[in-house]
Amino acid sequence: MPTEPGNASPSNPIAAPGLGRRRALLAAGAVLAAGVGAAAGELTDGDRTSGRATGADGPPPGAPTPFHGARQSGVTSPQLAATKLVAFDLPPSSTAADREALRTLLAAWTRTLASATAGTGPSPDPRLRAGGTTRLTSLVGLGPALAARLGLAVPAGLAELPAFPGDRLDPARSGGDLLLQLGAADHWTLAVVGELTATAARAAGATPRWSQSGFLPGTEPGATPRNLFGFKDGSANPDEDAARQWVWGPPGPHENATVLVYRRIRMDTAAFAALPEEHQNLAMGRRAGDGAPLTGTAEHDEPDLYAKHPNGAYVIPATAHVRLTGPRLDGGARMLRRGYSYDDAPGDRGLLFCAFMRDPGQFTRVQERLATRDALNPFLEHTASAVAHVLPGAPEGTALGDHLWS
Ligand code: HEM
Repeated sequence: MPTEPGNASPSNPIAAPGLGRRRALLAAGAVLAAGVGAAAGELTDGDRTSGRATGADGPPPGAPTPFHGARQSGVTSPQLAATKLVAFDLPPSSTAADREALRTLLAAWTRTLASATAGTGPSPDPRLRAGGTTRLTSLVGLGPALAARLGLAVPAGLAELPAFPGDRLDPARSGGDLLLQLGAADHWTLAVVGELTATAARAAGATPRWSQSGFLPGTEPGATPRNLFGFKDGSANPDEDAARQWVWGPPGPHENATVLVYRRIRMDTAAFAALPEEHQNLAMGRRAGDGAPLTGTAEHDEPDLYAKHPNGAYVIPATAHVRLTGPRLDGGARMLRRGYSYDDAPGDRGLLFCAFMRDPGQFTRVQERLATRDALNPFLEHTASAVAHVLPGAPEGTALGDHLWS
């Protein structure tokens, strides 16, 4: 993998290949080890655990993440407080025309997102200049149907998910040829950048399919954000070494690509909140208060799935969410979860499950276990779904998806 100029930015340490290997591993592990869950502008857990605070070679807290780099910032940078997912379709004409339309669109999004992220460039929108540099992260992905239709060189395992027991998916909120996920400190930025990217998409012939907004709670620096059940969500995310194996592609053209699995999961938050806290903890396999597994004392303790009470019962019950999702059942495979909450209407709030993995078959294996046995099931309903090949980042001077055309 050649060294790419965009990687060298100290503000995007996880975009590793352009950094010295030791520093890159340290810095990248720092971001992922934390569960990549720090709230807007804060240092991550990893920043603290690696001792890489705001010293000479570290980014100042709140520094914007550059758009350009080996990996897309929407996967690598700390989660910001607000997100917006937008899906588009590219109506079919001829394969050649559609490939050209996609290329045009990816080039336009590269310009728009780079300029919006930097707050400068050929035509930065004046609305983005008002508050100084924009805190914006983004990722762009391609849906399996588009990739197959245009014969694009995407990872072989990219495919739609199978149906799972209990699914109540709304097709109008699911799927899509192109998926864009924006992250920002506030919804203002998302509204403006959402408009600019939609205009560019329409100009290239793409049509909007669905969009979905989400948010995170205000969180102390370095802390894992909570979901609407009140539990810390993202504690057991992979460190950089594990992510190289399970999240990012293998060495080669997909090395800095990954796959996003998105599920919109409605949560009966009132019914769950009415459970005694002890029952909540047993359903999850962790404690709501500190996020520690029922077998441990601290959030980042590894759950001990073999531990038993003197009466022979498992401490982490057989149907606990953490047992059924644990990497031990999956040959050690870990996914990178970057969930957000949503609250669209009374009775329609929950989790935007956004997880990144090399092989979406991993999600299928875990969800097949969850769909039939998870103790959380009485409180959950999956209402939308999408899969996308998240393109490698665009190093300085290149556009997203350039590798698709060579
Ligand atoms: C609304 C639905 C869900 C809620 C509220 C939820 C919540 C949680 C919580 C609180 C944890 C423990 C803390 C952590 O490690 O982040 C967790 C872990 C996890 N969840 Fe979920 N989750 C949901 C759906 C899913 C789905 C659909 C999947 C995948 C099919 C999934 C996969 C995982 C994985 C892989 C872990 C880490 C397990 C480990 O390594 O110990 N979750 N989830």
